[in-house]
Amino acid sequence: MPKITVLDVRLYDEPVATLTNLQDGRTIFAFNDAYIEDETRPTLSLSYKDPFGALITKFRPYNIVVPPFFSNLLPEGPLRRYLADRAGVKQTREFFLLWMLGRDLPGAVTVHPSEGDDTPPDDEQAGIEARPNALRFSLAGVQLKFSAFKNGGRGGGLTIPTEGTGGSWIVKLPSQQYSGVPENEFAMMTIARMMGIDVPETQLVDLDAVGGLPHGVGELHGQALAVKRFDRTPDGAIHIEDFAQIFAVFPDDKYRKGNYRMIARVLGIETSSADVAEFIRRLVFNTLIGNGDMHLKNWSLIYPDRRTPALSPAYDLLSTIPYMEGEDRAALNFSRTKNMAALSKDELAHLAAKAEVSEKLVLDTARETVDRFRAVWDAEKDNLPMAEKVRETIDAHVPTIELYREFTQ
Ligand SMILES: Nc1ncnc2c1ncn2[C@@H]1O[C@H](COP(=O)(O)OP(=O)(O)OP(=O)(O)O)[C@@H](O)[C@H]1O
Ligand SMILES: [Mg+2]
Repeated sequence: MPKITVLDVRLYDEPVATLTNLQDGRTIFAFNDAYIEDETRPTLSLSYKDPFGALITKFRPYNIVVPPFFSNLLPEGPLRRYLADRAGVKQTREFFLLWMLGRDLPGAVTVHPSEGDDTPPDDEQAGIEARPNALRFSLAGVQLKFSAFKNGGRGGGLTIPTEGTGGSWIVKLPSQQYSGVPENEFAMMTIARMMGIDVPETQLVDLDAVGGLPHGVGELHGQALAVKRFDRTPDGAIHIEDFAQIFAVFPDDKYRKGNYRMIARVLGIETSSADVAEFIRRLVFNTLIGNGDMHLKNWSLIYPDRRTPALSPAYDLLSTIPYMEGEDRAALNFSRTKNMAALSKDELAHLAAKAEVSEKLVLDTARETVDRFRAVWDAEKDNLPMAEKVRETIDAHVPTIELYREFTQ
Protein backbone atom coordinates (compact mmCIF):
# COMPACT_ATOMS: atom_id res chain seq x y z
CA MET A 1 0.00 0.00 0.00
CA PRO A 2 1.41 3.44 -0.85
CA LYS A 3 2.61 5.30 2.19
CA ILE A 4 2.30 9.00 2.84
CA THR A 5 4.75 10.82 0.60
CA VAL A 6 6.10 14.32 0.97
CA LEU A 7 7.60 16.58 -1.68
CA ASP A 8 9.55 19.68 -0.71
CA VAL A 9 8.74 22.77 -2.74
CA ARG A 10 11.75 25.03 -3.17
CA LEU A 11 11.83 28.59 -4.44
CA TYR A 12 15.31 29.79 -5.51
CA ASP A 13 16.51 26.52 -3.97
CA GLU A 14 15.16 27.37 -0.49
CA PRO A 15 12.41 25.15 0.94
CA VAL A 16 9.17 27.15 1.22
CA ALA A 17 6.39 24.58 1.33
CA THR A 18 5.44 20.91 1.11
CA LEU A 19 3.06 18.85 -0.98
CA THR A 20 1.87 15.76 0.84
CA ASN A 21 0.24 12.80 -0.88
CA LEU A 22 -2.08 11.05 1.58
CA GLN A 23 -2.88 7.35 1.53
CA ASP A 24 -6.26 7.99 -0.07
CA GLY A 25 -4.67 9.77 -3.06
CA ARG A 26 -5.40 13.33 -1.97
CA THR A 27 -2.72 16.00 -2.09
CA ILE A 28 -2.32 18.73 0.52
CA PHE A 29 -0.24 21.88 0.14
CA ALA A 30 1.22 23.76 3.13
CA PHE A 31 3.71 26.60 3.51
CA ASN A 32 6.61 26.12 5.91
CA ASP A 33 6.49 28.19 9.12
CA ALA A 34 9.75 29.97 8.31
CA TYR A 35 8.32 31.13 4.97
CA ILE A 36 5.08 32.31 6.60
CA GLU A 37 7.03 34.28 9.20
CA ASP A 38 9.47 35.83 6.73
CA GLU A 39 8.37 39.44 6.16
CA THR A 40 10.61 39.74 3.10
CA ARG A 41 9.57 36.39 1.63
CA PRO A 42 9.95 35.94 -2.13
CA THR A 43 6.62 35.62 -3.96
CA LEU A 44 5.60 32.12 -5.04
CA SER A 45 2.24 33.15 -6.55
CA LEU A 46 -0.18 36.07 -6.46
CA SER A 47 -2.89 33.44 -5.97
CA TYR A 48 -1.57 32.93 -2.42
CA LYS A 49 -2.26 36.55 -1.50
CA ASP A 50 -5.59 37.44 0.12
CA PRO A 51 -7.45 40.68 -0.77
CA PHE A 52 -5.44 42.53 1.90
CA GLY A 53 -2.10 41.35 0.58
CA ALA A 54 -1.49 38.82 3.37
CA LEU A 55 -0.29 35.28 2.70
CA ILE A 56 -3.03 32.64 2.54
CA THR A 57 -2.07 29.68 4.72
CA LYS A 58 -5.14 27.43 4.75
CA PHE A 59 -5.68 25.09 1.79
CA ARG A 60 -8.12 22.36 0.93
CA PRO A 61 -6.89 18.97 -0.32
CA TYR A 62 -7.17 18.00 -3.99
CA ASN A 63 -8.05 14.52 -5.19
CA ILE A 64 -5.85 12.85 -7.88
CA VAL A 65 -4.74 16.23 -9.24
CA VAL A 66 -2.31 18.55 -7.48
CA PRO A 67 -3.37 22.12 -6.57
CA PRO A 68 -3.82 24.48 -9.58
CA PHE A 69 -0.48 26.29 -9.11
CA PHE A 70 1.37 22.96 -9.48
CA SER A 71 -0.95 21.40 -12.02
CA ASN A 72 -0.08 24.32 -14.30
CA LEU A 73 3.63 23.46 -14.12
CA LEU A 74 3.01 20.13 -15.81
CA PRO A 75 2.80 19.50 -19.56
CA GLU A 76 -0.59 18.89 -21.14
CA GLY A 77 -2.04 16.83 -23.98
CA PRO A 78 0.22 14.66 -26.15
CA LEU A 79 3.35 15.94 -24.42
CA ARG A 80 2.08 14.75 -21.06
CA ARG A 81 1.03 11.40 -22.51
CA TYR A 82 4.43 10.93 -24.08
CA LEU A 83 6.31 11.80 -20.90
CA ALA A 84 4.07 9.77 -18.63
CA ASP A 85 4.48 6.75 -20.91
CA ARG A 86 8.21 7.03 -20.95
CA ALA A 87 8.39 7.41 -17.20
CA GLY A 88 5.90 4.66 -16.50
CA VAL A 89 3.67 7.08 -14.59
CA LYS A 90 -0.08 7.25 -15.16
CA GLN A 91 -0.75 10.58 -16.82
CA THR A 92 -3.58 11.36 -14.44
CA ARG A 93 -1.41 10.94 -11.32
CA GLU A 94 -0.16 14.49 -11.15
CA PHE A 95 1.66 14.11 -7.84
CA PHE A 96 3.98 11.49 -9.35
CA LEU A 97 4.43 13.42 -12.60
CA LEU A 98 5.51 16.41 -10.55
CA TRP A 99 7.88 14.18 -8.63
CA MET A 100 9.54 13.09 -11.86
CA LEU A 101 9.60 16.48 -13.59
CA GLY A 102 10.21 18.68 -10.58
CA ARG A 103 13.79 19.70 -11.31
CA ASP A 104 13.10 21.64 -14.54
CA LEU A 105 9.84 23.50 -14.15
CA PRO A 106 8.93 26.98 -15.40
CA GLY A 107 10.23 29.72 -13.07
CA ALA A 108 12.33 29.39 -9.92
CA VAL A 109 10.26 26.67 -8.29
CA THR A 110 11.52 23.10 -8.00
CA VAL A 111 10.08 20.02 -6.33
CA HIS A 112 12.16 17.42 -4.48
CA PRO A 113 11.37 14.22 -2.62
CA SER A 114 11.58 15.06 1.04
CA GLU A 115 13.66 12.06 2.02
CA GLY A 116 16.05 12.30 -0.88
CA ASP A 117 14.46 9.24 -2.40
CA ASP A 118 14.58 9.44 -6.18
CA THR A 119 11.72 7.17 -7.11
CA PRO A 120 8.12 7.18 -5.96
CA PRO A 121 7.41 4.26 -3.61
CA ASP A 122 4.06 3.53 -5.19
CA ASP A 123 3.90 0.06 -6.83
CA GLU A 124 1.97 1.50 -9.73
CA GLN A 125 4.97 3.61 -10.55
CA ALA A 126 7.35 0.68 -10.80
CA GLY A 127 8.44 1.44 -14.38
CA ILE A 128 10.24 4.60 -13.43
CA GLU A 129 13.42 3.10 -12.08
CA ALA A 130 14.14 1.36 -15.33
CA ARG A 131 14.12 4.57 -17.33
CA PRO A 132 16.11 7.20 -15.45
CA ASN A 133 16.72 9.35 -18.54
CA ALA A 134 13.15 9.29 -19.69
CA LEU A 135 12.32 12.78 -18.59
CA ARG A 136 14.27 15.25 -20.55
CA PHE A 137 11.65 17.85 -21.09
CA SER A 138 9.09 19.04 -18.72
CA LEU A 139 7.94 22.48 -19.73
CA ALA A 140 4.26 23.20 -19.53
CA GLY A 141 2.31 23.47 -22.77
CA VAL A 142 1.02 21.24 -25.51
CA GLN A 143 3.56 21.19 -28.34
CA LEU A 144 6.56 18.87 -28.16
CA LYS A 145 9.42 20.90 -26.79
CA PHE A 146 12.71 20.47 -24.96
CA SER A 147 14.91 22.54 -22.74
CA ALA A 148 18.35 22.74 -24.41
CA PHE A 149 21.85 24.17 -24.21
CA LYS A 150 23.41 26.24 -26.94
CA ASN A 151 26.63 24.83 -28.40
CA GLY A 152 29.68 27.06 -28.34
CA GLY A 153 30.72 26.47 -31.94
CA ARG A 154 29.70 28.04 -35.22
CA GLY A 155 26.38 27.17 -36.79
CA GLY A 156 24.38 27.84 -33.64
CA GLY A 157 23.46 24.23 -32.87
CA LEU A 158 21.68 23.18 -29.72
CA THR A 159 22.00 20.15 -27.52
CA ILE A 160 19.30 18.59 -25.43
CA PRO A 161 20.93 17.24 -22.28
CA THR A 162 20.65 13.50 -21.98
CA GLU A 163 19.51 13.58 -18.41
CA GLY A 164 18.39 15.73 -15.56
CA THR A 165 17.70 19.39 -15.88
CA GLY A 166 17.53 21.33 -19.10
CA GLY A 167 19.33 24.34 -20.44
CA SER A 168 18.46 27.94 -21.05
CA TRP A 169 16.81 27.56 -24.47
CA ILE A 170 13.48 26.01 -25.43
CA VAL A 171 13.39 24.03 -28.66
CA LYS A 172 9.87 23.83 -30.09
CA LEU A 173 9.61 21.02 -32.61
CA PRO A 174 7.65 21.19 -35.87
CA SER A 175 4.01 20.19 -35.55
CA GLN A 176 2.89 16.85 -36.96
CA GLN A 177 -0.49 18.37 -37.68
CA TYR A 178 0.25 21.75 -39.30
CA SER A 179 3.08 22.71 -41.58
CA GLY A 180 5.42 25.67 -41.10
CA VAL A 181 4.54 26.43 -37.49
CA PRO A 182 8.14 27.18 -36.34
CA GLU A 183 8.60 29.54 -39.33
CA ASN A 184 5.28 31.22 -38.60
CA GLU A 185 6.16 31.70 -34.93
CA PHE A 186 9.66 32.92 -35.79
CA ALA A 187 8.20 35.49 -38.23
CA MET A 188 5.56 36.73 -35.75
CA MET A 189 8.07 36.98 -32.90
CA THR A 190 10.36 38.97 -35.21
CA ILE A 191 7.59 41.37 -36.26
CA ALA A 192 6.58 41.82 -32.62
CA ARG A 193 10.17 42.62 -31.66
CA MET A 194 10.45 45.17 -34.49
CA MET A 195 7.27 46.81 -33.22
CA GLY A 196 8.88 47.30 -29.81
CA ILE A 197 7.26 44.36 -28.03
CA ASP A 198 9.47 42.63 -25.46
CA VAL A 199 10.34 39.31 -27.13
CA PRO A 200 13.13 36.87 -26.17
CA GLU A 201 15.85 35.94 -28.64
CA THR A 202 14.69 33.39 -31.23
CA GLN A 203 16.38 31.28 -33.87
CA LEU A 204 15.26 28.77 -36.48
CA VAL A 205 17.43 25.65 -36.38
CA ASP A 206 17.58 22.63 -38.64
CA LEU A 207 16.49 19.55 -36.75
CA ASP A 208 19.81 18.03 -37.85
CA ALA A 209 21.60 20.67 -35.77
CA VAL A 210 19.78 19.64 -32.60
CA GLY A 211 21.78 17.07 -30.70
CA GLY A 212 20.22 14.65 -28.26
CA LEU A 213 16.69 14.50 -29.67
CA PRO A 214 15.20 11.32 -28.23
CA HIS A 215 14.00 8.55 -30.48
CA GLY A 216 10.29 8.17 -30.71
CA VAL A 217 9.26 11.77 -31.22
CA GLY A 218 8.01 10.80 -34.64
CA GLU A 219 9.26 11.46 -38.12
CA LEU A 220 9.77 15.18 -37.93
CA HIS A 221 11.26 17.28 -40.69
CA GLY A 222 12.37 20.82 -41.30
CA GLN A 223 13.20 23.46 -38.78
CA ALA A 224 12.58 23.86 -35.10
CA LEU A 225 12.19 27.15 -33.24
CA ALA A 226 14.67 27.88 -30.47
CA VAL A 227 13.61 30.50 -27.92
CA LYS A 228 15.87 31.83 -25.19
CA ARG A 229 14.37 31.19 -21.76
CA PHE A 230 13.70 34.39 -19.81
CA ASP A 231 13.37 32.42 -16.56
CA ARG A 232 17.00 31.24 -16.68
CA THR A 233 20.19 33.31 -16.17
CA PRO A 234 23.79 32.33 -15.45
CA ASP A 235 23.10 33.44 -11.86
CA GLY A 236 20.13 31.11 -11.43
CA ALA A 237 16.43 30.93 -12.14
CA ILE A 238 14.06 33.90 -12.22
CA HIS A 239 10.56 33.18 -11.01
CA ILE A 240 7.55 33.39 -13.36
CA GLU A 241 3.92 32.29 -13.17
CA ASP A 242 1.19 32.26 -15.79
CA PHE A 243 -2.33 33.67 -15.49
CA ALA A 244 -3.90 30.26 -14.99
CA GLN A 245 -1.74 29.99 -11.85
CA ILE A 246 -2.59 33.55 -10.82
CA PHE A 247 -6.33 32.89 -11.17
CA ALA A 248 -5.99 29.39 -9.60
CA VAL A 249 -7.53 27.83 -12.69
CA PHE A 250 -6.65 24.31 -13.87
CA PRO A 251 -4.98 24.04 -17.32
CA ASP A 252 -8.16 22.53 -18.81
CA ASP A 253 -9.98 25.77 -18.09
CA LYS A 254 -7.39 28.04 -19.73
CA TYR A 255 -9.87 29.05 -22.48
CA ARG A 256 -12.83 29.36 -20.14
CA LYS A 257 -12.18 30.87 -16.73
CA GLY A 258 -10.81 34.31 -17.41
CA ASN A 259 -10.62 37.06 -19.99
CA TYR A 260 -8.29 39.83 -21.13
CA ARG A 261 -10.00 42.43 -19.01
CA MET A 262 -9.23 40.39 -15.87
CA ILE A 263 -5.56 40.19 -16.88
CA ALA A 264 -5.50 43.96 -17.47
CA ARG A 265 -7.00 44.48 -14.04
CA VAL A 266 -4.29 42.45 -12.30
CA LEU A 267 -1.61 44.33 -14.26
CA GLY A 268 -3.24 47.66 -13.29
CA ILE A 269 -3.09 46.77 -9.61
CA GLU A 270 0.21 44.91 -9.41
CA THR A 271 2.47 46.35 -12.12
CA SER A 272 3.39 49.62 -13.84
CA SER A 273 1.42 51.54 -16.47
CA ALA A 274 4.22 50.62 -18.89
CA ASP A 275 3.23 46.96 -18.37
CA VAL A 276 -0.46 47.76 -18.92
CA ALA A 277 0.50 49.47 -22.19
CA GLU A 278 2.68 46.51 -23.18
CA PHE A 279 -0.25 44.16 -22.54
CA ILE A 280 -2.52 46.24 -24.81
CA ARG A 281 0.23 46.38 -27.45
CA ARG A 282 0.43 42.56 -27.45
CA LEU A 283 -3.34 42.14 -27.37
CA VAL A 284 -3.81 44.36 -30.43
CA PHE A 285 -0.83 42.77 -32.19
CA ASN A 286 -2.17 39.24 -31.62
CA THR A 287 -5.57 40.27 -32.93
CA LEU A 288 -4.04 41.83 -36.06
CA ILE A 289 -2.02 38.70 -36.89
CA GLY A 290 -4.98 36.44 -36.05
CA ASN A 291 -3.60 34.61 -33.03
CA GLY A 292 -6.58 32.78 -31.55
CA ASP A 293 -4.56 30.90 -28.96
CA MET A 294 -3.65 33.54 -26.35
CA HIS A 295 -5.23 31.66 -23.46
CA LEU A 296 -4.41 32.19 -19.78
CA LYS A 297 -1.19 30.15 -19.97
CA ASN A 298 0.24 32.31 -22.75
CA TRP A 299 0.58 35.35 -20.47
CA SER A 300 2.92 35.38 -17.46
CA LEU A 301 4.23 37.57 -14.70
CA ILE A 302 7.93 37.62 -13.85
CA TYR A 303 9.55 38.50 -10.49
CA PRO A 304 12.89 40.22 -11.20
CA ASP A 305 13.39 41.35 -7.55
CA ARG A 306 11.82 38.11 -6.23
CA ARG A 307 8.81 39.96 -4.77
CA THR A 308 7.30 42.45 -7.21
CA PRO A 309 5.61 41.23 -10.38
CA ALA A 310 6.06 42.62 -13.89
CA LEU A 311 4.63 41.40 -17.20
CA SER A 312 7.03 38.74 -18.54
CA PRO A 313 8.44 38.89 -22.07
CA ALA A 314 6.08 37.61 -24.77
CA TYR A 315 5.97 33.98 -25.97
CA ASP A 316 3.89 31.69 -28.20
CA LEU A 317 3.14 34.46 -30.72
CA LEU A 318 1.92 32.94 -33.97
CA SER A 319 -0.83 33.40 -36.51
CA THR A 320 -3.32 30.56 -35.94
CA ILE A 321 -5.94 31.63 -38.52
CA PRO A 322 -4.13 30.03 -41.49
CA TYR A 323 -4.76 26.65 -39.82
CA MET A 324 -8.42 27.19 -38.91
CA GLU A 325 -10.57 28.10 -41.86
CA GLY A 326 -13.17 30.73 -40.97
CA GLU A 327 -12.22 30.85 -37.30
CA ASP A 328 -11.91 34.43 -36.22
CA ARG A 329 -12.26 34.18 -32.46
CA ALA A 330 -9.76 35.11 -29.79
CA ALA A 331 -8.94 32.55 -27.09
CA LEU A 332 -10.64 34.69 -24.44
CA ASN A 333 -13.15 37.53 -24.33
CA PHE A 334 -11.60 40.97 -24.69
CA SER A 335 -14.26 42.47 -22.44
CA ARG A 336 -17.63 41.46 -23.90
CA THR A 337 -16.69 39.61 -27.06
CA LYS A 338 -14.19 37.08 -28.41
CA ASN A 339 -14.81 38.09 -31.98
CA MET A 340 -11.58 39.52 -33.40
CA ALA A 341 -13.44 41.57 -36.01
CA ALA A 342 -15.39 43.24 -33.17
CA LEU A 343 -12.30 44.54 -31.41
CA SER A 344 -12.93 48.27 -31.53
CA LYS A 345 -12.23 51.49 -29.66
CA ASP A 346 -15.50 50.95 -27.84
CA GLU A 347 -14.58 47.39 -26.78
CA LEU A 348 -11.20 48.60 -25.51
CA ALA A 349 -12.81 51.51 -23.67
CA HIS A 350 -15.14 49.00 -22.00
CA LEU A 351 -12.17 46.82 -21.10
CA ALA A 352 -10.32 49.83 -19.64
CA ALA A 353 -13.31 50.89 -17.53
CA LYS A 354 -13.94 47.40 -16.15
CA ALA A 355 -10.24 46.78 -15.51
CA GLU A 356 -9.90 50.23 -13.91
CA VAL A 357 -6.96 51.21 -16.09
CA SER A 358 -6.55 54.45 -18.03
CA GLU A 359 -8.74 54.56 -21.14
CA LYS A 360 -6.41 57.11 -22.70
CA LEU A 361 -3.39 54.86 -22.15
CA VAL A 362 -5.25 51.91 -23.68
CA LEU A 363 -6.52 53.77 -26.76
CA ASP A 364 -3.27 55.67 -27.38
CA THR A 365 -1.35 52.38 -27.19
CA ALA A 366 -3.83 50.65 -29.49
CA ARG A 367 -3.52 53.41 -32.10
CA GLU A 368 0.26 53.35 -31.92
CA THR A 369 0.26 49.55 -32.28
CA VAL A 370 -1.89 49.66 -35.41
CA ASP A 371 0.48 52.28 -36.90
CA ARG A 372 3.58 50.30 -36.01
CA PHE A 373 2.09 47.07 -37.31
CA ARG A 374 1.27 48.61 -40.69
CA ALA A 375 4.80 49.96 -41.07
CA VAL A 376 6.61 46.78 -39.98
CA TRP A 377 4.28 44.37 -41.79
CA ASP A 378 4.52 46.22 -45.09
CA ALA A 379 8.29 46.41 -44.87
CA GLU A 380 8.97 42.88 -43.67
CA LYS A 381 6.22 40.50 -44.76
CA ASP A 382 8.10 39.46 -47.89
CA ASN A 383 11.44 39.09 -46.09
CA LEU A 384 10.41 36.76 -43.30
CA PRO A 385 10.25 32.98 -43.57
CA MET A 386 6.50 32.43 -43.45
CA ALA A 387 4.43 30.41 -45.90
CA GLU A 388 2.55 32.31 -48.63
CA LYS A 389 -0.71 31.10 -47.07
CA VAL A 390 0.17 32.79 -43.77
CA ARG A 391 0.99 36.07 -45.51
CA GLU A 392 -2.22 36.03 -47.53
CA THR A 393 -4.42 35.04 -44.61
CA ILE A 394 -3.08 37.89 -42.47
CA ASP A 395 -3.44 40.37 -45.34
CA ALA A 396 -7.10 39.39 -45.72
CA HIS A 397 -7.73 39.34 -41.95
CA VAL A 398 -6.30 42.72 -40.90
CA PRO A 399 -8.94 44.97 -42.57
CA THR A 400 -11.77 42.91 -41.02
CA ILE A 401 -10.84 44.25 -37.59
CA GLU A 402 -12.91 47.24 -36.63
CA LEU A 403 -10.11 48.84 -34.61
CA TYR A 404 -7.86 48.74 -37.65
CA ARG A 405 -10.46 50.48 -39.78
CA GLU A 406 -11.18 53.06 -37.08
CA PHE A 407 -7.51 54.05 -36.91
CA THR A 408 -6.70 53.93 -40.60
CA GLN A 409 -9.73 55.42 -42.38
N1 LIG B 1 11.09 32.17 -23.63
C1 LIG B 1 10.57 31.55 -22.57
N2 LIG B 1 11.18 31.62 -21.37
C2 LIG B 1 10.66 30.98 -20.31
N3 LIG B 1 9.54 30.25 -20.32
C3 LIG B 1 8.89 30.14 -21.49
C4 LIG B 1 9.35 30.78 -22.66
N4 LIG B 1 8.51 30.48 -23.67
C5 LIG B 1 7.57 29.68 -23.14
N5 LIG B 1 7.78 29.47 -21.83
C6 LIG B 1 7.03 28.63 -20.89
O1 LIG B 1 6.80 27.39 -21.51
C7 LIG B 1 5.39 27.17 -21.68
C8 LIG B 1 5.13 26.59 -23.06
O2 LIG B 1 5.64 27.42 -24.08
P1 LIG B 1 4.73 27.83 -25.31
O3 LIG B 1 3.51 28.52 -24.81
O4 LIG B 1 5.59 28.60 -26.24
O5 LIG B 1 4.41 26.41 -25.92
P2 LIG B 1 3.11 25.67 -26.41
O6 LIG B 1 3.27 24.26 -26.11
O7 LIG B 1 2.95 26.07 -27.81
O8 LIG B 1 1.93 26.21 -25.62
P3 LIG B 1 0.36 25.98 -25.89
O9 LIG B 1 -0.05 25.09 -24.79
O10 LIG B 1 -0.17 27.36 -25.73
O11 LIG B 1 0.19 25.44 -27.25
C9 LIG B 1 4.75 28.53 -21.50
O12 LIG B 1 3.45 28.42 -21.01
C10 LIG B 1 5.69 29.21 -20.52
O13 LIG B 1 5.41 28.82 -19.20
MG1 LIG C 1 1.63 28.22 -24.89
